[in-house]
Amino acid sequence: MTAKIIHISDGFEEAVEAARVVLAKGLPVAIPTETVYGLAADATDPLAVGRIYETKGRPQFNPLICHMCDLGMAERYAHFDPISRHLAETFWPGPLTLILPLKADSGIHALATAGLDTVGLRVPKGFAASLIRAFGRPLAAPSANTSGRISPTHAQHVAEDLGEKLELIIDGDAAPVGVESTIVRVEDETIRLLRPGGISAEELEAATGRTIVRPASPSATIEAPGMLASHYAPTAAVRLDAREVRPGETLISFGGLQVSGEDRATMVLNLSPAGDLREAAANLFDYLKKADAATEVGIAVVPIPAHGLGEAINDRLSRAAAPRT
Ligand code: TXA
Ligand code: MG
Repeated sequence: MTAKIIHISDGFEEAVEAARVVLAKGLPVAIPTETVYGLAADATDPLAVGRIYETKGRPQFNPLICHMCDLGMAERYAHFDPISRHLAETFWPGPLTLILPLKADSGIHALATAGLDTVGLRVPKGFAASLIRAFGRPLAAPSANTSGRISPTHAQHVAEDLGEKLELIIDGDAAPVGVESTIVRVEDETIRLLRPGGISAEELEAATGRTIVRPASPSATIEAPGMLASHYAPTAAVRLDAREVRPGETLISFGGLQVSGEDRATMVLNLSPAGDLREAAANLFDYLKKADAATEVGIAVVPIPAHGLGEAINDRLSRAAAPRT
């Protein structure tokens, strides 16, 4: 099987209908979201959800995010505390996932939640939301890549990785945010950041007037079991906070920073020459893939500021650089 690729710009409604037909057969379909491309399937159908895990080679103890078309739909599946509801009203549709207590008999299959009594919910923008509305059921959707690899931000990334395993890929051009959603869990009026992502901690704090609590060590929490240390791994070794380039390395740069030995680099890719962290996030995964393909030696990455979307960028980079298991 080689996936058919349908571009949204060739007909939005036709693309929605083609994806809906695949979902109705109990099969996964790769779709664009504002964060990264997702591998979506009916969250209420165990066979369909099972095919997501199988296609990605993903361990089944790692729960999937369930996508809703709006807050009203989300409230049918989970209990919202007042802070979570305020976050949903502020940031949905958008790159925010809320971990919430699952309602009894919600219909979301235990395979999607890995048997937990909580569920990760997100309302995406654009095509994905229209597809969920047309399908009428929540879509479980992890990033559309082989487990452990870099998340796809272009339909072509999905085609290269999973094209032989899928029936259909919907092409919606480059994913504008470029990193996955921010995952938070509210407990006892405390907002805990389980995964930094497309909404910055500063934005969450500004919207709630509350301090965002980060886990002591990201790998210490089993609560987002997908947050394994070695993740988003390119083939080449990744060296962070690089201040010089070693011969044969590719360099991932940022802003106007000058690094010694840039002329020795096999390739230089600047995440954002203007030093804009949003632009850098949008380019991150694509540039990691390009840098990986261009070197046999390794990828050097300059220091990236830690504020705003820099937190998510640094999180993904440290996972890309972590020792492989
Ligand atoms: O931007 C995104 O969030 C993308 C797009 C496709 O929506 N999806 C995505 O899904 O990144 P995935 O499966 O790659 O990441 C889901 C993360 C994992 O780290 C998982 O452990 C965590 O969400 N998660 C899901 N349900 C959870 C739950 N009930 N409690 C704690 N963590 C949960
Ligand atoms: Mg992923």
